[in-house]
Amino acid sequence: MTELTNPGPGFRSLGTEYDDYRPEVEGSIPGWLSGTLLRNGPGRFEAGDSRVNHWFDGLAMLRRYAFEGGEVRYSNRFLRTDAYADAAEGRLTGQFGTDTRGWRRLFDTVTSFGLPEPTDNANVHVARIDGEYVALTEAPRRIVFDPETLETHGEFTFGDDLTEHITAAHLVDDPHREEVVGFATQFGVPPQYHVYRVPDGSRRRERIASIEADGPAYIHDCSVTAQHVLLVESPLQLSVLRALNPFADGAIGMLNWDPDRRTRVLVVDRDSGDLLADPTLEAAFTFHHINAYVGDDREIVLDLVEFPNADIVGSLSMAELDGVGFPDVPDGRLMRYRIDTDANTVERSRRYDGGIELPRVVRSRVGRQHRYAYGQATDREGANGLVKVDCESGTAREWWERSVYVEEPIPVRRPGGDAEDDGVVVATALDIERERTALLFFDAATLDLEARAWLPHAEPFGFHGRYFRGV
Ligand SMILES: [Fe+2]
Repeated sequence: MTELTNPGPGFRSLGTEYDDYRPEVEGSIPGWLSGTLLRNGPGRFEAGDSRVNHWFDGLAMLRRYAFEGGEVRYSNRFLRTDAYADAAEGRLTGQFGTDTRGWRRLFDTVTSFGLPEPTDNANVHVARIDGEYVALTEAPRRIVFDPETLETHGEFTFGDDLTEHITAAHLVDDPHREEVVGFATQFGVPPQYHVYRVPDGSRRRERIASIEADGPAYIHDCSVTAQHVLLVESPLQLSVLRALNPFADGAIGMLNWDPDRRTRVLVVDRDSGDLLADPTLEAAFTFHHINAYVGDDREIVLDLVEFPNADIVGSLSMAELDGVGFPDVPDGRLMRYRIDTDANTVERSRRYDGGIELPRVVRSRVGRQHRYAYGQATDREGANGLVKVDCESGTAREWWERSVYVEEPIPVRRPGGDAEDDGVVVATALDIERERTALLFFDAATLDLEARAWLPHAEPFGFHGRYFRGV
């Protein structure tokens, strides 16, 4: 554990939970916006006098922003998990960079050591599965919550027996197929990635494919086209042997970057489960896919945020983050991969010169041809801006303000709107000078700032969220 320091507001623990707080609004929120943005992320970083070692290990806190009639209401609530109860008693049981207990469960199956359960600190993302709202992380434990009150309703279990040792907090919610697609990693000989779908109204994962893993790699996200599921397997390997070292530093101690290996793009047929292609490129790492689709000439287009190596993972440790704003971490690059499955080749091109992370496309374009990607603009001094990239022309619009750190932007299309960018982009943003977070509303076409709703406190930097229409 690191010593307590004096962190900036983005990494400072919150003690207060609000319920239906009505923020002061500058400007006007579109009256048609009727739904709820649910976000997840760390909200507390200490237990007793210990502080977590990695941003990914803060205790899960849900944030709710409900829109109706041009108004917004705000709630925040910690998940009441075993990890939360442990922290209340002064014990930290985080697991990415902090504590090996959860991840050593991995070896339970291999060695039958009878090691403890993986963590239930589901602080990364949210999803709706079988009508339930579920908080997700990369350990295979999921927590159900009430989308109105944010109350914790216990553990979510799938109605199947898929084996998973590490899972993905990102599920692709495909509006065109009424299913979500995800994957999980199973250690063993050989290690495998299990790619699955969960049809709407079901909690049974149906196996699309099980692919022999090379590594296995730490994979954070995936994408779909109408006919494919795409995974990017980098040389950031999960080493079981390294983690058996009792001095290993949580899961991060399992990770090994091998620059001499190549990155492999796995192209899975979404219906047959066949591995259609697995072209390789020079070593590169990615957290987040942006979107994928089948383009002209049947080539597959995959846009993602790429890093030249995995230094980003270590740079998100708390020691690096204890500055005032968000630290100067390596910038992600918006890359377009064009995949020819017949030739088993992938060609790469950069679509935006700036740094970008936490990218999104509007939900209706998921798996279909998109033009616009929205993301954090990360290469500002003393700020994180917002960027809208035209992925066809390679041009971009940007918005930023000094001392304002924009988080993951969520594009929401206006009901009945035709254009892909007819709507708003909603993003939380921490103003480190005011020590307050605001919810920002931008015109999705122009990035003009339309409204700013001030929350009652500075929220610690979060990860991901989803907008649920009509909820
Ligand atoms: Fe993520």
